[in-house]
Amino acid sequence: MSEPRKLHVKSYGCQMNAYDSQRMADLLTREGFVETPAAETAELVILNTCHIREKAAEKVYSELGRIRKWKERAEAEGRRMRIVVAGCVAQAEGEEILRRAPLVDIVVGPQNYHRLPALLDRAEREGKLVDTEFAAESKFDALEPAGREAIRRRGVSAFVTVQEGCDKFCTFCVVPYTRGAEISRPVENIIAEVKHLARAGVREVTLIGQNVNAYHGEGPDGRAWTLGRLLHRAVELSGIARIRYTTSHPRDVDDSLLAAHRDLPQLMPHLHLPVQSGSDRMLAAMNRRHERRDYLRTVARMRDARPDMAFSSDFIVGFPGETESDFGQTLSIVEAVGYAGAFSFKYSPRPGTPAAAMADQVPEPVKNERLARLQAAIDRNQAAFNARCLGTTLDVLLEKPGRRPGQLVGRSPYLQPVQIMLPESRIGDIVPVTVTEIGSNSLFGRLAGEASRSDRTASLLAVGS
Ligand code: 5AD
Ligand code: SF4
Repeated sequence: MSEPRKLHVKSYGCQMNAYDSQRMADLLTREGFVETPAAETAELVILNTCHIREKAAEKVYSELGRIRKWKERAEAEGRRMRIVVAGCVAQAEGEEILRRAPLVDIVVGPQNYHRLPALLDRAEREGKLVDTEFAAESKFDALEPAGREAIRRRGVSAFVTVQEGCDKFCTFCVVPYTRGAEISRPVENIIAEVKHLARAGVREVTLIGQNVNAYHGEGPDGRAWTLGRLLHRAVELSGIARIRYTTSHPRDVDDSLLAAHRDLPQLMPHLHLPVQSGSDRMLAAMNRRHERRDYLRTVARMRDARPDMAFSSDFIVGFPGETESDFGQTLSIVEAVGYAGAFSFKYSPRPGTPAAAMADQVPEPVKNERLARLQAAIDRNQAAFNARCLGTTLDVLLEKPGRRPGQLVGRSPYLQPVQIMLPESRIGDIVPVTVTEIGSNSLFGRLAGEASRSDRTASLLAVGS
């Protein structure tokens, strides 16, 4: 029998890219490829690229420069190496990639990667090609489910795309251009994938979408279902102990989502709800379609529905025209919400977006200084949130071996990594853990049954004031 053909997929950026990379690997596994961690020896290398911030295209070209050396060596040794550039840089740059990096064989956009097996055949016959026209057919109908082995290898927590693209057009963001218009996957198609994952041992699913709570996929009754309704359906599936969803837009939090958080114990009390800025002036310039007080009202309503709800956010500092006073509003919304964590970014002009052409671009040193102050505020919030967990008992889904021998690491309902001494046979279990120590990146604990008298059991973490 001949050697299996080796495939290496390198994924950049968001969780949806990670999901897409897995789907590409699953498709190609059916074609006889096996995944390898060693890109240098692969017959097929796929870069699944991200275009969201900072010189993304330049990073891809420099990675391709490295790969060129591997390809030359492979060819000198009589091996083939084919290169595919996929993802959002592929969508944005198209033909330009073939011009600047002649080693690339195929450029394929995020809506078209389900055609990869056919594209590989076509490229074999016709030479290099670009496929970035948005596909007329749904890629979800064409995708192959992962094999059981691949699912096990990827762990007990899995992503499932339910919605893709965005119609919001925030003025800083490339997503509406690279991922296209908002589309939702039909309910039954999602449920089939979740069932398949559960049968292979997955315990937690995170439903993902660029604008996940704008979900409006067709239900079995022929009507458009909301995300809240989809969540109610998904938790009925046996084997799925936990469910999450990300990323949400503040404008699209509706009553069905609040009801899901109130009614479904399997739905984890953690919401990634990017606000981007605390200043109404900046929110308007960003075309966010909500004001500061709408956001704070949504946070309060979520906490009414689920009192221990934890929040995280994305922030952009140095958006064109941002003054010290606007930035002060961002610092103050951090304190008003009391975040469990957050990501913060310096504004990066993206070619083709309205904000890139705005006057009053903020100088780099000002951006750096604001970013540092914001990150310090977020770190303080996160440390305070973690400190409140000390002595409490949290349910932890055990995911994989931890840092030290004999240790496992899992996730709390609030997404904190938790380290605990337990054997590997417990991976996939959800266990009550009493938190005994707070580290810089994770919590440490022991099984609640082994707790000493001094342990406090508090399940509610009241946040903010
Ligand atoms: N500059 C900086 N950050 C950006 N993001 C999106 N576009 C830009 C940009 N041009 C951030 C937003 C978004 C996250 C995924 O990336 O905060 O929520
Ligand atoms: Fe980008 Fe705004 Fe859409 Fe989020 S909501 S993907 S930030 S355009």
